[in-house]
Amino acid sequence: MSSSTTESVSRGSELYRGKAKTVYHCDDSSRLVLHFRNDTSAFDGGKVDQLNRKGEVNNRINAFVMEKLAAAGVPTHFDRLLSAEESLVKRLDMLPVECVVRNIAAGSLCKRLGVEEGLELETPLFEFFLKNDELHDPMINDHHIRLFGWGTQEQIDEMQRQTLAVNDVLKPMFADIGILLVDYKLEFGMYEGKLLLGDEFTPDGCRLWDAETRKKLDKDRFRRDMGGVVEAYEEVARRLGVPLD
Ligand code: TMP
Ligand code: ASP
Repeated sequence: MSSSTTESVSRGSELYRGKAKTVYHCDDSSRLVLHFRNDTSAFDGGKVDQLNRKGEVNNRINAFVMEKLAAAGVPTHFDRLLSAEESLVKRLDMLPVECVVRNIAAGSLCKRLGVEEGLELETPLFEFFLKNDELHDPMINDHHIRLFGWGTQEQIDEMQRQTLAVNDVLKPMFADIGILLVDYKLEFGMYEGKLLLGDEFTPDGCRLWDAETRKKLDKDRFRRDMGGVVEAYEEVARRLGVPLD
């Protein structure tokens, strides 16, 4: 591993290897180490590649965004950056659902409903998906979540409230740097009885378009073989003022 700032936290055994991040135990059982890898995956693992520097760029963008959210009153798992590609987070008990908010129609919404890509939605649209690659993350609603025990009504309400609160912080933040926040996906988990934002916020899990040109600055560049994926993520980092090595 790169970098030098891990003096008080040593990475322990592997807990979970996802498609783009690996999660490790550490000395403190209330914390985990997230390692943002260069691996990039789309279509539920159907398309994979290694993109040089993506791990570092995403780790740093995620730290920046999580700190903004915490400062705005959205509770998150983020603790601190450990190194170029690693962050320390609180250990959550994750809910197996993905929360999506859309401001502009794109992706699966267009496929599902025949809506034209780029249509501006009058109000933010909230959707739940089940986190399950084999089933291709099917869309679900609050009835499914309660019935199958994936979450309580209180957790459902809180996930919706916090996901929409994130929009109130991030949509204007991106607008200020000439970027449209088209949509994004968040995941939540429980920590000491409280629901906290977990996982990540990076261009891997959202759509960001240049406001003037509508150039895509997110993982759709990878999904659609457009090239310049990490360069686009670096452009987002640069405009946000996120320091890169
Ligand atoms: P979708 O258009 O494919 O439903 O995705 C909406 C947004 O959520 C998009 O920014 C990508 C993100 N997303 C993920 O990152 N992972 C997922 O598993 C899903 C369902 C969505
Ligand atoms: N995040 C999911 C995956 O990596 C879906 C996608 O991005 O297409 O497979």
